[in-house]
Amino acid sequence: MRCHFYSISSGMNEPRQRLFFALWPDDEVRTALEETGKSLLGKRIKRVPAANLHLTLAFAGSVTASVRRCLESSASAIQLAPFDLTIDHSGHWRRPRIAWIGPTHTPSALWSLVGSLRTVFESCGLQAETRPYQPHVTLARKISRLANDTSITPVPWSIGSFSLVESVTDPRGVRYQRLVSWALEGQ
Ligand code: 2AM
Repeated sequence: MRCHFYSISSGMNEPRQRLFFALWPDDEVRTALEETGKSLLGKRIKRVPAANLHLTLAFAGSVTASVRRCLESSASAIQLAPFDLTIDHSGHWRRPRIAWIGPTHTPSALWSLVGSLRTVFESCGLQAETRPYQPHVTLARKISRLANDTSITPVPWSIGSFSLVESVTDPRGVRYQRLVSWALEGQ
């Protein structure tokens, strides 16, 4: 039997999970996002697998089990109302070389949700993200440029929940596993 010993004092060897909060599309929205990627990028470009499409709210990185527990209990206290999002815009960032789609207009409810999660991070001892939030769904990586016609058919997305997701890397690549979801049901 293989035994694992973890240093309690330093916590350096504690098992960790790579976590982030995200908006997780239902099947209908996922299909629409997938179709958008197909028509925007064409068939020859390798796209993010449909099962992995999501919109990140806040990225925690590699965290210990106690931080995960803190994130879960703090996130469960968030009280916000459901809202609507329209994914109607495409873009390309040269530095991470990604092609993405996102909302032209970010609803105030989305700002509130992201702000609440940044507060959750601080209360759990994680460094708050200092970069401005740019809502996007990554469609493809290692992309040098987008074609000239970058208009897309808008995808309406009703947001009724948010999720804590784990990024798992295995020999076949990265996959995302939804761990917990919380309904938005505040006033
Ligand atoms: P990306 O799609 O722009 O790459 C899982 O990796 C999700 O977290 C992805 O949506 C990814 O954004 C985002 N992500 C990964 N590393 C990040 C970081 N250091 N800061 C913010 N978001 C990150």
